[in-house]
Amino acid sequence: MYSKDLRKHFFNFFHSKGHVRVPSSSLIPDDPSVLLTTAGMQQFKRYYTGELNATDDFGSQRIATIQKCFRTSDIEEVGDKTHLTMFEMMGNFSFGPVGSDDPEDDGKEGYFKRAAIHWGYQFITEVLGIDPDRMHVTVFGGDDETPFDGEAYDIWKDEVGVPEDKILKGVREDNFWGPTGEEGPCGPCTEIYVDGVEVWNIVFNEFYKERGGTYRKAERPGIDTGMGFERLSVMLEGVDNVFESELFRPVMAKIEELAPNMDEAIKRVFADHLRAATFLIADGVVPSNKEAGYILRRLLRRVMAYQVKYDVHANLFEEMVPVIKELFGEIYPEINDSDRIIGVFETEKTKFQEAVSRGLKEMEKIFEENREEKRITGEQAFNLFSTYGFPIELLKEFVEGKQFTLDEEGFQKKVAEHQETSRAGAGNKFGGHGLVLDTGELKAGSEEEMKKTVGLHTATHLLNWALRHELGDEVKQMGSDINPERLRFDFTFDRKLTMEERQKIEDLVNDKINANLPVYMREMPKEEAEQLGAVAFFKHKYPAIVKVYSVGSEASGGVVSREFCGGPHVEYTGQLGSFKITKEEAVSAGIRRIRATIG
Ligand code: ALA
Repeated sequence: MYSKDLRKHFFNFFHSKGHVRVPSSSLIPDDPSVLLTTAGMQQFKRYYTGELNATDDFGSQRIATIQKCFRTSDIEEVGDKTHLTMFEMMGNFSFGPVGSDDPEDDGKEGYFKRAAIHWGYQFITEVLGIDPDRMHVTVFGGDDETPFDGEAYDIWKDEVGVPEDKILKGVREDNFWGPTGEEGPCGPCTEIYVDGVEVWNIVFNEFYKERGGTYRKAERPGIDTGMGFERLSVMLEGVDNVFESELFRPVMAKIEELAPNMDEAIKRVFADHLRAATFLIADGVVPSNKEAGYILRRLLRRVMAYQVKYDVHANLFEEMVPVIKELFGEIYPEINDSDRIIGVFETEKTKFQEAVSRGLKEMEKIFEENREEKRITGEQAFNLFSTYGFPIELLKEFVEGKQFTLDEEGFQKKVAEHQETSRAGAGNKFGGHGLVLDTGELKAGSEEEMKKTVGLHTATHLLNWALRHELGDEVKQMGSDINPERLRFDFTFDRKLTMEERQKIEDLVNDKINANLPVYMREMPKEEAEQLGAVAFFKHKYPAIVKVYSVGSEASGGVVSREFCGGPHVEYTGQLGSFKITKEEAVSAGIRRIRATIG
């Protein structure tokens, strides 16, 4: 069976059990405590807690998705037969409350362990036709924190009829899942193995882990499952590894054509990293030195370093993106914007080339300094890497050539420390003041700073409006970051603004500030907000009832800006003070960044 059929069978099967198909969410999650989407359930966290209602939004408590995911933990392993950074995860979900746990019930209410286990088994054995003799399962064996999952054990044994020697009890590390980030739904899980390979993880979200670490019983127990799409594809196609499967074959063939002399492992690194990078860029990530941008940069620089090492002259990105698009563009339309994607790749390539030539000079100095001990320290390697973007793979080449040694462990430790710092930064976006915009949650910060930040938030809406007013409705917000000093706004636009345009935009915003327009919020059904032309941020998933902030009213001479937003905002634009654009620059091809202040 090929991947296309696997997708189809999966959705058909769960559709027949009352599930609604929901598209994959972006690789950039809404959840600020995680950098990238690592599991299918992430986009649904608020449905598990009852904050959002799946029946209102999707027409069922039962959902099925194939979600693109990214896990950084495996970056170093890529090159073998199994590890990937980006992968797809098939999953069925139930958000509760549990209405019927009968596997015969094809309704739309929440279900729990019985239905989830029966359906898992049926899909594997009946739909995919895998012989039950090839299977074994695991359940959570229990520990000090949460008990043995006897319920799941009994369902497998008594209802499904799996022999007891094929139901193994596992430890927390393997059989308890979640939460993603610091808090959230989690619970024991049961795994299905085929020929000793784990293919399905079925999580029973019966707990909610609090920030402090305590597990409380979830009010609405739910189901979260994950089945590795690539892994199952390999099994069903009967190939040796994922790079030989239909999902990667054309990518590997192209790499073979462009760089026949590279080791097989490096070809796999190219295939994985280029595919993952394409998807990250499509979701709005651009290379940078922190957070998701840093991960993207790492992928690309690793590939480009190997390009140098193996003397691959091909125009790699331009050649590869169309192949990836051909394979996945129908399923993930966001990757079809190949001009922009290639543009981001090319910008990074130029930066890399500059960095390498600067880094080479610095490296020569280090070799000279260390000629006695003939060893490069972890710190030196990291400095080369972080200051000049000089890739470790390339450094290793030179180290070998000069018959030096390299403290690679020390280097990796430094990288890990750096990641910790940038991760901390991710949860701390608003100048460390705990102010979380767009959720209505205001926690800390001095009153003065808070006022400034809220004002800049309103200014951001005015800027978003002014950009579209001046440059056209194609301008789309790509990101926003506010601290008490300034706002930063990223948007799609393919060239530098002229001085006139920049001035015009600044004037437009200041006009609206001087007009002292009212700013107000109204809650309404999502459809109504869309009809009113409210601007939504494409990366967000909105509930059925949304908050819409408007600037200006009919009475004040017309509505200026209208956006899906949770606030907070000022009450009148006159509270802002004068608006000034301090910088306008490119973030990457097709994306511009404006910094601005008020006051
Ligand atoms: N969320 C679970 C996983 O990622 C299903 O394994």
